[in-house]
Amino acid sequence: MTDALRFVLGGRVVEVPQADPAMTVLQWLRANGRCGTKEGCAEGDCGACTVVLGELDGGGHHLRYRAVNACILFLPQIDGKLLVTVEDLADGPELHPVQRAMMENHASQCGFCTPGFVMALFALHRTGGGTDDDTIHDALAGNLCRCTGYRPILDAARSLPPKDPATDRFDRAEGGLATLLRSIARPDALTVSGQGRVLHQPKTLADLSALVLAHPKATILAGGTDVGLWVTKHLRTLPEVIHLAEVAELRTLVEGEDRLDVGAAVTYTALLPVLERRLPALAALVRRIGAAQVRNSGTLGGNVANGSPIGDSMPALLALGAELVLHRDGQRRTVALEDFYLGYRRSDLREGEFLERVLIPYPRPGDVFATWKVSKRRDQDISAVCAAFRLTLAEDGTVAEFRAGYGGMAATPARARALEAALTGGSWSEAAVTAALPALDADFTPLSDMRASDRYRAAVARNLVLRFLRHTGGEEAYALETAHA
Ligand SMILES: Cc1cc2nc3c(=O)[nH]c(=O)nc-3n(C[C@H](O)[C@H](O)[C@H](O)COP(=O)(O)OP(=O)(O)OC[C@H]3O[C@@H](n4cnc5c(N)ncnc54)[C@H](O)[C@@H]3O)c2cc1C
Ligand code: FES
Ligand code: FES
Repeated sequence: MTDALRFVLGGRVVEVPQADPAMTVLQWLRANGRCGTKEGCAEGDCGACTVVLGELDGGGHHLRYRAVNACILFLPQIDGKLLVTVEDLADGPELHPVQRAMMENHASQCGFCTPGFVMALFALHRTGGGTDDDTIHDALAGNLCRCTGYRPILDAARSLPPKDPATDRFDRAEGGLATLLRSIARPDALTVSGQGRVLHQPKTLADLSALVLAHPKATILAGGTDVGLWVTKHLRTLPEVIHLAEVAELRTLVEGEDRLDVGAAVTYTALLPVLERRLPALAALVRRIGAAQVRNSGTLGGNVANGSPIGDSMPALLALGAELVLHRDGQRRTVALEDFYLGYRRSDLREGEFLERVLIPYPRPGDVFATWKVSKRRDQDISAVCAAFRLTLAEDGTVAEFRAGYGGMAATPARARALEAALTGGSWSEAAVTAALPALDADFTPLSDMRASDRYRAAVARNLVLRFLRHTGGEEAYALETAHA
């Protein structure tokens, strides 16, 4: 049995019976006459395909908007949502303020990237994002332009008038759009099949558990910012997929007394406000994961489960002592993250099991925690090396506990146990840290690849420990300003 997909587009409900579950939103749009949305890279890097999704908030009356990359978003992922593309922005002959700003500031030349920029700015405008440069850069970091040199695009963003609920077309339409979205809300699981593929989209943890048990070979899909590329770049067919992002229990985020408890479907964007309060150093790192479009879909759970040696969240989670709650057939087991990875892209996840939650302890009062990512570009780039450190000093100033997590140095993200042992119990001083650094050679034998040479990685791994030493001495400005070196 297969369900028709339903979403709202252009002010009406669209039904897609027998959709190919591996078809991307970009492919569907372009095959259905909406060619404003462009394909540049087809891997989430350039933003040419940016569209905006609207979803009902908890109360069911207002809409929340987020920019996403249509090229790595499978069509079933927009079931029950509002899809906004560049064709929807103008109100008859009246351009949307974002489009007008782009035009008046000469922010388009060949025009190929322009719809993507317009949609990224539209999302910023919808969310009342402000016009300060940090916010604008954050909103546009996922969009590339080969022609304009960016200044006119930034000028357009700076010139945007604040969103005016009285005149904004999407505010005026909100009641009607909310009604349409409520009319297609799906209380139960969705099953989509076509082209010999099937995708299951459960709504509850119990249903997810039963599905993963019954289909242990199925690909689990969260935000799809890794899995999407398996299809668009590696041409994998994914005959069976279980999409867990609609499971209500997995979208919860519990801010406990001594730890954060993060459901596996919580996106980076949903996590960030809590991290800003509880773990600002980790928030700064998460802001450097991909760009807004990637963080709006991607999850911490997906990063951990994917287990890439250069995944950015794991060094911090290792330094903090994070644990994973793994779920199989209604039973749960808790595993320390440091015991989860068994080898290159191999983990302790068993057949029929999935990651349910990530438990992140806060640093203890008095602890110092910091994490840095070193990559060639500040935004939208993968780490050469990523490191995180947590230090507890005893009352006499010696090191009571030192934990170091590294990415990019081995086949899996890993703790630097030899370095930790060399520092624990000694003084926390330049001399002691410098003397301990050679221990990193016992911890890691890094590889050379297109991102960095083995020697560069080894040098960066050492230098980040020294940076942490300076950071604990109060040289925060140094650490923050050069965090992207
Ligand atoms: C343009 C771009 C930039 C990126 N930049 C960065 C970056 O800077 N740093 C970085 O670390 N990553 C980056 N990524 C990679 C990706 O965004 C992250 O790894 C993200 O956290 C993946 O989350 P997801 O929800 O999209 O996972 P998905 O793609 O849905 O899944 C990833 C993997 O985890 C598995 N999985 C997901 N959830 C579960 C679960 N609950 N239980 C069991 N298995 C599960 C899937 O089967 C798959 O193997 C980037 C990706 C793109 C496209
Ligand atoms: S086409 Fe480049 S991000 Fe989608
Ligand atoms: S205007 Fe040509 S790529 Fe941006």
